Amino acid sequence: MECRDPPVLHDQPGKCASDKIFLLFAIKSIPKHFERRQAVRETWGREGSYENGLQVRTVFLLGRSSVDDPSLDKIVSFEAQLFKDLLVWDFHDTFYNLTLKEHVFFKWMLDHCPQVSFIFKGDDDVFANTQAILNHLKSLDPAQASTLYTGQIISDATPLRDPNIKYYVPQSFYEGPYPPYAGGGGFLFSGNLLPSLYHVSFYIPFYPIDDVYNGMCFKAIGINPTKHDGFKTFDIREQDRENPCVHKDLLLVHQRNPQQTMRLWRNMHSSMLTC
Ligand SMILES: *[C@@H]1O[C@H](CO)[C@@H](O)[C@H](O)[C@H]1NC(C)=O
Repeated sequence: MECRDPPVLHDQPGKCASDKIFLLFAIKSIPKHFERRQAVRETWGREGSYENGLQVRTVFLLGRSSVDDPSLDKIVSFEAQLFKDLLVWDFHDTFYNLTLKEHVFFKWMLDHCPQVSFIFKGDDDVFANTQAILNHLKSLDPAQASTLYTGQIISDATPLRDPNIKYYVPQSFYEGPYPPYAGGGGFLFSGNLLPSLYHVSFYIPFYPIDDVYNGMCFKAIGINPTKHDGFKTFDIREQDRENPCVHKDLLLVHQRNPQQTMRLWRNMHSSMLTC
């Protein structure tokens, strides 16, 4: 709870320097997920200039492996130098520390990427449809674009009280319902909300579930989430999961492994594809 300012081990201070960045992908990952990160780089997370010159950048957010894991520090360090897309902080990368990752990410954005138009925050095991995301963001009117917080919205959720499950929260820690929040597999928000989000994150105690914490922060700054039916954080019908045509109209599905992501991307961009 008190640890809020861990040192940065690998930084990318020039990430947003050159151009006006339209969309930044900020992907939560952990050190050992090399293959997942590479699948993202080769598919939906590709950096560069898209249709109409829109600039897209990608960063992966990491902490350190736990004491019980073999050290991956040297390999991660090599990866950071090679791809220049890793942000690594010196804290234990565990589920309960995801909110800390959120907080240091806000800080990093304000320091190094304050002019970004939109941020996609998500997991390293999702499939995102980059062109559909860009089209959606382009279609927003100025009022929507400056107050965006969208994804698959979970409303009326309450803490789970079974001590044996991952999302268990004891009564002594939190009572009452959760604010509506966008599922943490992947959601979008406006870059100009970053200063207020960072500011309120000092006043709202860290919460062990990071997407719920986000919901609390957005609520505190007076932003309501808007649902978008193209975000499928609980996946789609089993028979549609390999179907590129079904994915053309979606913005995000959770979850896909690296091989499924590669295959889906290739099929979606095939010149033979007729939907
Ligand atoms: C979060 O990271 C800090 C700093 O590495 C560590 O001391 C703490 O045990 C971690 N918390 C959890 C719940 O893993």
